[in-house]
Amino acid sequence: MTSSFSLKDRTALITGGARGCGLSFAEGLAEAGADIAIFDIIPPLPSFHTIAATYNVRTAYYFVDVSSPASLQAGFDQFVKDFEGRLDICVPTAGINKNVSFLETSYEEHQKLLGVNVLGVYHTAQLAAGQMVKNGTKVGSIIVVASIASYMAIRSQNSSAYCGTKGAVRAMVPPIAAELVEYGIRVNSISPGYVRTEMTAPFPHLLESWKGEIMNGRVAEPEDIRGACVFLASDASKYMTGQDLCIDGGVTKW
Ligand SMILES: NC(=O)c1ccc[n+]([C@@H]2O[C@H](COP(=O)([O-])OP(=O)(O)OC[C@H]3O[C@@H](n4cnc5c(N)ncnc54)[C@H](O)[C@@H]3O)[C@@H](O)[C@H]2O)c1
Repeated sequence: MTSSFSLKDRTALITGGARGCGLSFAEGLAEAGADIAIFDIIPPLPSFHTIAATYNVRTAYYFVDVSSPASLQAGFDQFVKDFEGRLDICVPTAGINKNVSFLETSYEEHQKLLGVNVLGVYHTAQLAAGQMVKNGTKVGSIIVVASIASYMAIRSQNSSAYCGTKGAVRAMVPPIAAELVEYGIRVNSISPGYVRTEMTAPFPHLLESWKGEIMNGRVAEPEDIRGACVFLASDASKYMTGQDLCIDGGVTKW
């Protein structure tokens, strides 16, 4: 019997895939059988280069700044050429945070956050959807990465602009899903809770204090979020679109 979680013969594009949650998503999708391309502005961690041999899939890395329309388009064109137009799964994960008070957030800082977290996600999804329509995939799935920051303030952090960007990411999902349903493309989001990555590494004291706020008492590792991505990418979630999956150890429910 073929597992409904299998991604064999599918191609996935993950932005922000060089490390952290994005790299974990890439590993999970590859483990399920998908070929993998990642876009990032930093070179991927060494473990990315072992994915192809470990899971017998194809992998590729492209230097792409998702906040630059020109860079995004150029990277996408090259990816489409290299992968002969194949694309079934897109996971716009690239994101940045800024710990700065509401009263001191500058226009420039805010614009930078919006450029990566909102415009970068939206236009990556748009390019991906256009290619999926073009290649006629019957199993299209777009999974954008929002955050618990779209539901609540981040305790002990000043992150109003970041929270706003994540609210925008979650809010764009139902209307995009509604427009893409006629092409058989599903669109959902993942909202991770507190995850131990380079994004949260500068705040070791917060990683410690957050434990007390999380229902299951621990901060997530990127691997803890991976299963949700594989589920949303695969036929196992084929009746699901326009939704958010909150993978947060219960922090928003306590
Ligand atoms: N770490 C957490 O606690 C947490 C919680 C909820 C949501 N998230 C979200 O998860 C996603 C991944 O974050 P992470 O925790 O793995 O952080 P991370 O900093 O380890 O990973 C982010 C990746 O995005 C890349 N990136 C940043 N700007 C980019 C750009 N302009 N173009 C292309 N790539 C770019 C970075 O180089 C990095 O590889 C982000 O959207 C983040 O907001 C993280």
